[in-house]
Amino acid sequence: MPNVKVNLGPRSYTVLVGAGVTDKLPGLISKHTPEGRLFVIYDSGFYALHGHKLSKFLKSSIGKTHELTIPVSERLKSQKTLDQIIDYLLSERISRSDLILACGGGIISDLVGFAASSVLRGVRWGIVSSTLLGMVDAAIGGKTGLNHKQGKNLVGAFWQPSFVICDLNHLGTLSDRHFMAGMGEVVKYAGLVGGRMLEDCRSFLDSEPHAVDKITDRLVAQSVRYKADIVSKDETEGRLRMVLNFGHTFGHAIERCLNYRGLLHGEAVLIGLLGAIELSRLVRKPNVGSLAEYEQIVLRYVQVLPKRKLRTKELIEAMSTDKKRGGRGNRFILLDRPGKPVIIENVSKQIIGRAVEVGS
Ligand code: GLY
Repeated sequence: MPNVKVNLGPRSYTVLVGAGVTDKLPGLISKHTPEGRLFVIYDSGFYALHGHKLSKFLKSSIGKTHELTIPVSERLKSQKTLDQIIDYLLSERISRSDLILACGGGIISDLVGFAASSVLRGVRWGIVSSTLLGMVDAAIGGKTGLNHKQGKNLVGAFWQPSFVICDLNHLGTLSDRHFMAGMGEVVKYAGLVGGRMLEDCRSFLDSEPHAVDKITDRLVAQSVRYKADIVSKDETEGRLRMVLNFGHTFGHAIERCLNYRGLLHGEAVLIGLLGAIELSRLVRKPNVGSLAEYEQIVLRYVQVLPKRKLRTKELIEAMSTDKKRGGRGNRFILLDRPGKPVIIENVSKQIIGRAVEVGS
């Protein structure tokens, strides 16, 4: 599979996507830290499955490594865990010529990336992303950070990695539930991209197990390519990058209403896509047929989600108290048709309420 480049001038980097691409790690490490040491931070879930093998591989190929394994969860995506990582790096006397490697899903890459952005005012880092959600979203684009008691991801920095490894062999060890939650983000990209990606999302559900891997590989590569292109054009979310939040205004509100329990992020995004599709109908003049076709695909993914109880009033309230919006009015990413997202602001509460009722 061809590598994907995030084009950011001197801070450009490559995302390697494919089965077994972890083999390329020693070359990347030597390239990005010819003189320095390597600090590997594993999330404990990743370590239990792949850590021993990876650690042995790194030691045999590049020599001594410095390693830390920590448990992570949304609750542990906190200042305390960040301090734990920074304390470790400083106690090992990390220097600016060293490299930090984050191994695991999106939570560890967000935390380690934020530590890398701030320790010694910035140290290079790379990512071995092992979850579907991590590969198609968190690992790409340099958004790093942690949760604050006032909300998710409210503290952080843009700090681009030097490389990203998306080894598709790691996907085989994900639970079905986590895999399907990752598909939430993939189905989001299908709405933004349209065309063949929609077909692939549908065939993913209809295909025999032997054919699924090929479709998955294609969907991951397409998602990574799309995100890399958007980030290359708008690194710090001036405007264009906002389209990646398609389904997320509703999705984040759902997560907040459920107190971040009961649904995984990607699952909330799937439900959020239904709200965004309905809102597209209410405030745009969309291509009705193609939107309905996309909605049918999203619905099939939503049907298998755990049951949840969502109250319209609370959801609208959660959307209007989204701390990330600051003092501005609301903003939604809608579709005129699959492949044609639009950014819309200041939608009335009444119309949002109608979309929420249908979407939830
Ligand atoms: N997760 C959305 C973004 O990276 O912009």
